[in-house]
Amino acid sequence: MAALRWLCGLLLLLPLVLGAGNRTGPVPLVIWHGMGDSCCNPASMGYIKKIVEEKIPGIYVLSLKIGTTIIEDMENSFFMNVNDQVTQVCDTLTKDPNLQGGYNSMGFSQGGQFLRAVAQRCPSPPMFNLISIGGQQQGVYGFPRCPGESSHICDWIRKMLDLGAYTKAVQGRLVQAQYWHDPLKEEEYQKYSIFLADINQERGINELYKKNLMALKKFVMVKFLNDTMVDPPASEWFGFYRSGQAKETVPLQETSLYTEDRLGLQQMDKAGKLVFLGVEGDHLQLPVEWFYANIIPFLN
Ligand SMILES: *[C@@H]1O[C@H](CO)[C@@H](O)[C@H](O)[C@H]1NC(C)=O
Ligand SMILES: *[C@@H]1O[C@H](CO)[C@@H](O)[C@H](O)[C@H]1NC(C)=O
Repeated sequence: MAALRWLCGLLLLLPLVLGAGNRTGPVPLVIWHGMGDSCCNPASMGYIKKIVEEKIPGIYVLSLKIGTTIIEDMENSFFMNVNDQVTQVCDTLTKDPNLQGGYNSMGFSQGGQFLRAVAQRCPSPPMFNLISIGGQQQGVYGFPRCPGESSHICDWIRKMLDLGAYTKAVQGRLVQAQYWHDPLKEEEYQKYSIFLADINQERGINELYKKNLMALKKFVMVKFLNDTMVDPPASEWFGFYRSGQAKETVPLQETSLYTEDRLGLQQMDKAGKLVFLGVEGDHLQLPVEWFYANIIPFLN
């Protein structure tokens, strides 16, 4: 009887032991798409998923879908509170049995700053490497060009941002307003930006954000050297316009976020955890050979 109970207990535990303890398989990857895109477009995230699976056999790749359908997922990249999106993603990651041993993540464009919020807010399961592909870590001040066929949406977005990027109505609904960073209205940004100012510790220091970000093994930032869509491209390496004007940019190392080390980025930099990669080409124009040579190593 006792032996039977023991056996049953062991059998119940077996999947847990094998599942959580088995580190022989590749580290899973979580992907978050950019503006106007979706989880599963075969020409964008579907393609990335496919080439990663080819290069790393057996890898589990989760391309995040925000909402229940692909159309909703695409719409939510324009019109949903980003804090709610991050909460939803954290919930998905916590429940996914394949991710419980930890994962790497790769965000495209705005997905890059959204996944950083996940790293800062949701330490479990642990994120190992965060790869931001053209992400706007210090936000944007302008939409010089918009991707693909969504130009009418972009015209509307510009109008909303002009009308009042930091009003409650616009902040709550328009994704791009939530990482709108106006260097001429730095105080308004710090006070009313519901997403970016929060994760960038503009309203005081959340020690957990700092601790969780510093727990990353590597934070890789890819900047497109000929980017005509992101204003300013320096934001892809966590730099931005020097406050009070919109011409001259400063690198991360000259921002107060770094010198005051409000987010742990200075310590991460000194520990060799920040990786700054530059690639020739316009926004998200990633040559596949470059991807293999420079990104795949961080997924292995
Ligand atoms: C561990 O994971 C690998 C890859 O997923 C699998 O092939 C192997 O059978 C697993 N080992 C055990 C003991 O479950
Ligand atoms: C892209 O930008 C880099 C760095 O500024 C420059 O050296 C290169 O010539 C540019 N390439 C093209 C195709 O414009």
